[in-house]
Amino acid sequence: MIRPILFFLILASNLSGFSQSAFNIIPKPESVIPGKGVYVYGAHTRIYASKPFLAAAQLLGETMKLPAKQVALWQKGMSVPSGSVVFEKTSGKQEDSSAYRIDIKSGEIRISSSGYAGALYAMQSITQLVLTSNQTNGIPCATIADKPRFGYRGLMMDVSRHFYPPSFVHKMIDLIALYKLNTLHLHLTDAAGWRIAIKRYPQLTEKAAWRSEGQWKPWWKGDRAYARFGEAKAYGGFYTQDEAREMVTYAATRGITIIPEIEMPGHSEEVIAAFPHLGCVGAKAGQGEFCIGNDSTFVFMQDVLTEIMSIFPSQYIHIGGDEAGKKNWKACSRCQQRIKDNKLKDELELQSYAIRRMEKFISSKGRTLLGWDEILEGGLAPGAAVMSWRGEKGGIDAANMGHDVIMTPGETCYFDKYQQDPTLEPEAIGGFLPLQKVYNYEPIPAELPGDKHRFVKGAQANVWTEYIPTMEHFEYMVFPRIIALSEVTWSNKTAREWTDFQSRLTAHYRILQQKNVNYCRPSDRVEISPVINAAARQTTITLSTEQYNPEIRYTIDGSMPTTTSTVYTGPFTLSGSALLKTAVFRNGKIAQQPDTLDLRLHKALGKTVTYVKKWSGSYPAQKEQTLVNGYTGSLTYQDKQWQGFLTDLDVTIDLGMLQSLQNVSCRFMQVIGPGVYMPLYAEVYVSADGQNFIPAGRSTNDISPLYDRLTFKSFSIDLKNTEARYVRFFAKNQRGFMFADEIIVE
Ligand code: ACM
Ligand code: ZN
Repeated sequence: MIRPILFFLILASNLSGFSQSAFNIIPKPESVIPGKGVYVYGAHTRIYASKPFLAAAQLLGETMKLPAKQVALWQKGMSVPSGSVVFEKTSGKQEDSSAYRIDIKSGEIRISSSGYAGALYAMQSITQLVLTSNQTNGIPCATIADKPRFGYRGLMMDVSRHFYPPSFVHKMIDLIALYKLNTLHLHLTDAAGWRIAIKRYPQLTEKAAWRSEGQWKPWWKGDRAYARFGEAKAYGGFYTQDEAREMVTYAATRGITIIPEIEMPGHSEEVIAAFPHLGCVGAKAGQGEFCIGNDSTFVFMQDVLTEIMSIFPSQYIHIGGDEAGKKNWKACSRCQQRIKDNKLKDELELQSYAIRRMEKFISSKGRTLLGWDEILEGGLAPGAAVMSWRGEKGGIDAANMGHDVIMTPGETCYFDKYQQDPTLEPEAIGGFLPLQKVYNYEPIPAELPGDKHRFVKGAQANVWTEYIPTMEHFEYMVFPRIIALSEVTWSNKTAREWTDFQSRLTAHYRILQQKNVNYCRPSDRVEISPVINAAARQTTITLSTEQYNPEIRYTIDGSMPTTTSTVYTGPFTLSGSALLKTAVFRNGKIAQQPDTLDLRLHKALGKTVTYVKKWSGSYPAQKEQTLVNGYTGSLTYQDKQWQGFLTDLDVTIDLGMLQSLQNVSCRFMQVIGPGVYMPLYAEVYVSADGQNFIPAGRSTNDISPLYDRLTFKSFSIDLKNTEARYVRFFAKNQRGFMFADEIIVE
């Protein structure tokens, strides 16, 4: 056997010092001061811990592959062999219990914290150094001082739409704990299946934990039937209470609180299927809302939550509260009686009545009700905490009223969206949320007054799983985006820097590979960001990719970029129109087909546009400027360059003077999940005086409204040198939304 001290000295003298880049810790710690030399661990290493930190020490022992007996109790003043790791509990205030300090010296690692959470976070920082180190069994000496910015750093798993077994939940707990998240929110109940055994109501899991069709779309668009375990095609599952308790303990040991969500009053089709008497009077099969006029609803919810609270010790108990339809309540005699008896104004106040009643119950048990931001409608219950998902407004309103808020806005925190080019990705619900957009998210809204910031407890990623049927796919949607959110919620705002994060993340891909995680690989797509100066007819172009330190080359004449094309070194300016093509190159080869910007400083640029009917209030983009600002839209209609229309699009552009016109074109997109369709046709009319318009042509749609992948089509009308000053562009809405980005007049 090698004697530890000698072994260590020999190795240390052979290793040079580590540079700052050796500290690939994510989320970025508050402070890392590199030291001299290397700490080397091996079979000889012993880990000692103050009693409350023993479990954290054992987890480090597992990372270092040490026998369990080499992790032992430690007391202040006790001397330890050279080369040891010591976890020391210090005294400190409760609010500092997540802070930690690590001194890595060549002869010892000393970890200090006043709380178990801090000891765990220190352990995870060391774990990351171990797993990303280029040295076998060596990590660089340093002093690290760290603490989280936000107290709530979460991931939500929707285990209703698709059920994931406890072993997979454990795997997710391990992974998010590595990135210092501290909350796992389980969406346990929804139409698609009830996922936890309730002793008092075994019918919930007998009748509604399985369904007759596993795939989401055919089930949801079909009969939405439930099945019983063992029946042909029965698909689903549920957690027993023992399994759930085991998850709670497993998570707690790793610093993670599990928040259970039991949906009410909406999203409850599966409950009403098992207990029809909890639906409204006269409601049809498939009702998704509890009857609020029926006291049995409250008896049921309280019974269920009593069992839930006995399993899950979390302070927050999530009752859902989102997207409840009001139609059945309007038609129900019991609900209407409730409104009358309680002098409620309408169904929104009826909903608020239900939430308030639950809030009273939950707070009587010493817990805090948490709900989606609809719980603000009709008046927020005292003491309730809000998850802001329909943007940040609900969160801002609740924080202004002094309520706790968790930020989960759809635009930046919904990990069910596409993260790369949707035309190449596995089908998702829609939307576009690439890694960098997650990274750039700031949980404190700019408009929230400073004295209210403290009510924003943190942020959470939500993974709704309608389109995520497998565990591999779940991992794909979560990683690496959750790693970006971990830094958003942990690190100081000023410490966040995208390129620096990318550099550290590169090292973490190795960890994900070691841990068998099916993460989404960084894209070779080149993001082209133009800034157009219409008056000067110049455009400044910035190029970026998800690759770290990429070799990007480009051409501006429409030719294919090659290994001899211009290398991108920073923003550059183009004069007039150009066809930009750009791609990442690796090892002397183009990495994928080039990305293109057809920059056309066309005749309508910056001109006046008159709308017969305005755009949809939800998607104004750049209002009157949108369709003639020179910017084409990206892969998502949420980028504020795509303007949305629930009606026909009917606009007239004044070009300012009579001129000869060759062509008018406008691009639309189709993504039927969220109800976005091509127009039936587009037409152009022209006029010299703005009064008398003559038809100039029509372009007809050839994309089926059933085609269910993201697709784009340019509707183009040849004007054959027609003389005109005014151009009227009309697009016929066939259903839902139409989105247009630019009307190009040439
Ligand atoms: C939600 O996305 N319905 C909370
Ligand atoms: Zn009712």
